[in-house]
Amino acid sequence: MALHQQYALVRSEAGFNLEQQSQELGALHPRQLRIKVKAASLNYRDLLTFNDPAGSKDGLVPLSDAAGEVVEIGSKVRKWKIGDRVSPGFFPAWTDGAFSQSHLSNALGGGQTDGVLSEFITADEAAVVAIPDHLGFHEAAALPCAGVTAWHALFERGKIQPEQTLLVQGTGGVALLGLQLATAIGARVIVISSSDEKLARAKALGAWQTINYKSQPDWDQVALELTDDRGVDHILELGGPSTYDRSIAAIAPGGQIAQIGVLSGFGSRPDMTPLQFKNAAVNGICVGSVAHYANLNRFLRKRRIHPVIDADIPFDNAGTAYEMLRSAGHFGKITISVG
Ligand SMILES: NC(=O)c1ccc[n+]([C@@H]2O[C@H](COP(=O)([O-])OP(=O)(O)OC[C@H]3O[C@@H](n4cnc5c(N)ncnc54)[C@H](OP(=O)(O)O)[C@@H]3O)[C@@H](O)[C@H]2O)c1
Repeated sequence: MALHQQYALVRSEAGFNLEQQSQELGALHPRQLRIKVKAASLNYRDLLTFNDPAGSKDGLVPLSDAAGEVVEIGSKVRKWKIGDRVSPGFFPAWTDGAFSQSHLSNALGGGQTDGVLSEFITADEAAVVAIPDHLGFHEAAALPCAGVTAWHALFERGKIQPEQTLLVQGTGGVALLGLQLATAIGARVIVISSSDEKLARAKALGAWQTINYKSQPDWDQVALELTDDRGVDHILELGGPSTYDRSIAAIAPGGQIAQIGVLSGFGSRPDMTPLQFKNAAVNGICVGSVAHYANLNRFLRKRRIHPVIDADIPFDNAGTAYEMLRSAGHFGKITISVG
């Protein structure tokens, strides 16, 4: 059996350690593909997994997001051929239709389900999408979690329209993909960030207005002023307890808050009452299906959108990518070159 390199989260008394290991390539099932991974990317969720050794198995292969090339196909695979450029969905079993909570335990790179920080991975033929021709492997690897989440929130659920406004929190993966997708249809996007330098970059990327949430902690009031006291039509709620109440204050009548993030932690109870006086909604968003991913890629291809990559780290230095994400200095996505 051929050997390949992969990373695993190995338990110690201090918590998880990220360790590179040699692993045998397993046999392929008839409907599976073997993918040579070219690039992977990190999401905030990968820090949550790393920091919670009790929540995942010892030896878990981390990360959910990868892009690569098909190098072997099972005997019954019809949809793909060797050489195809593909990327697996975050929930391999949620191919289309309604979400089932049973998919939660199958998300790549968490719990008991191995992820993609590996030279080779296998995937069911129904669980992968084609990479748009205009995207490199690193750009494609930026999409399965952050891109699909922003797409699902804004287009599949939120049905965002060109004349509407959107507010995104921070300048990480989900926020910037949200900014890029919404500006592509002509929506006006407000970006809030802790950094003026990042806000200048967001402006260059097409942000309509920017607010520094450190120097202007009452960013909800600023958002109301910017929208003539009406509020914003859509919010990608990424902050969690530190931002709930301000998101509810800043949402417009009939608006939609996409409940996505936990950047300031879990828990706390926002006062939802103001939502009823605005006929506003909260949509819980849990990444998205493989079909959502395919829809996102069609949109990106048509609009020639390239996700923003802040840094690309060599496979052998994967720990550096974790450090960068942890320090939160990034703008957009951090990717890892594999192989
Ligand atoms: N529900 C889902 O399916 C789903 C999917 C993807 C992500 N998420 C969640 O969404 C959040 C963002 O994920 P990500 O991968 O895009 O993160 P990321 O790339 O690590 O971005 C984090 C950025 O958010 C900003 N930030 C940090 N704390 C903040 C706060 N209290 N208020 C506002 N902004 C803050 C910072 O940007 P600045 O330096 O510019 O301020 C930071 O760099 C995470 O909580 C993640 O777990 C959920």
